[in-house]
Amino acid sequence: MQRSDLINKFLRVRKASEEICAPLETEDYVVQPIDDVSPPKWHLAHTTWFYEAMFLDKLVPHYKPFHPLYSFMFNSYYQSFGERWDRPRRGVLSRPTVKNVYDYRKTITNRMIELIDSIDEKKWPEFSKLVVLALNHEQQHQELLVTDIKYILAGSPLNPVYRELAKNESRAGIAPAIPSKLIGFEGGLHNIGYDGNGFCYDNEMPVHQKYVGDFELQNRLVTNGEYLEFMNDGGYDNFRHWLSDGWDAIQKNGWKSPLNWEKKDNEWFEMTLNGLRKIVPEEPVCHVSYYEAEAYASWAGKRLPTEEEWEAAARLNKPDAAHGNFWEDGNFHPVAASKNDSGREEPLLQMLGDVWEWTGSSYLPYPGYRQAEGALGEYNGKFMVNQMVLRGGSCATPRDHIRITYRNFFQPDKRWQFMGFRLANDVK
Ligand SMILES: [Fe+2]
Repeated sequence: MQRSDLINKFLRVRKASEEICAPLETEDYVVQPIDDVSPPKWHLAHTTWFYEAMFLDKLVPHYKPFHPLYSFMFNSYYQSFGERWDRPRRGVLSRPTVKNVYDYRKTITNRMIELIDSIDEKKWPEFSKLVVLALNHEQQHQELLVTDIKYILAGSPLNPVYRELAKNESRAGIAPAIPSKLIGFEGGLHNIGYDGNGFCYDNEMPVHQKYVGDFELQNRLVTNGEYLEFMNDGGYDNFRHWLSDGWDAIQKNGWKSPLNWEKKDNEWFEMTLNGLRKIVPEEPVCHVSYYEAEAYASWAGKRLPTEEEWEAAARLNKPDAAHGNFWEDGNFHPVAASKNDSGREEPLLQMLGDVWEWTGSSYLPYPGYRQAEGALGEYNGKFMVNQMVLRGGSCATPRDHIRITYRNFFQPDKRWQFMGFRLANDVK
């Protein structure tokens, strides 16, 4: 990559994080309603600290940190960088102020541009690769910013609106939901993992072969309307549909619906980033845990796809991110499936964008995976236990951040991300 291209990309990514926060009031930047949700101020500072720790501190002679305590305050989980402020206590920090954090960002952005501009030609290949990783890191936090802002705003009885509806918001009413059907795929040996020339995370490698039996995959995501049928059929009250841990989770948390749903006068409403609105039956269901997705599939007599099935089907269908519903589209919500959103007649819709799709696969290393040395080795590998894989990106993901081999992962009880699912089935 050329230096000027990297500088342009760097500036574009840095600006996007600030654009996401532009509609916020100062108070919105600071609170942490649950451990999983970090204050927006923290995300803005942490993504800045990452460049300081990974590049400036290592490569600039006699580098003096912007502030001696920021590494302690804004390191997330990197043991290699020493002691850290407790994650659940990120929301108790009124200082540094939001203004201080924006000053921090500006300073580090400028220092990084100087570094990209001046780094020795011999160091460029390795250096530029690492900067691309750091930019992908910031993009991951952009998604978290959107979802954490949603959780923060949805926690207020005032139902604050993050952004008024974009013109191309919800296609409900314009096109009825595409009828659900299962598409058959032939089994066999499939290549799994990233085999392109661009960027990918280490958890997408190495490429390997996996035998997948004949299977069927739903042509689109499960909708709110379909999920309501499960709810109205007593889905949350019948233990037979649930994994034991899932049954415990719904009892403990009192879950009777997806996150952000509320019933008023016998009608279901949903808090969105566009404010509170009636449930649109044609839209994909989102903010469900793995347990809920799995229980729905069990109720429906189907199952969730494995990550290999999802990837094999995506390789055959070649979904185009250009036609998916991503952060740049300004919907901040999944939209109903329509033939138009793929731009072509293809059997599988909504594979990229809208919601991250729970798979039935545990997040494990691919055969031959080796964790990198040092801080980079802490990026993915150490989380490979007790989490499930999600595929495909969401309406909060930056469009150029997704690939069909991308493996997201969360614990099965999480639901504050834009998480949904599609069904799969065995072929008898
Ligand atoms: Fe991070």
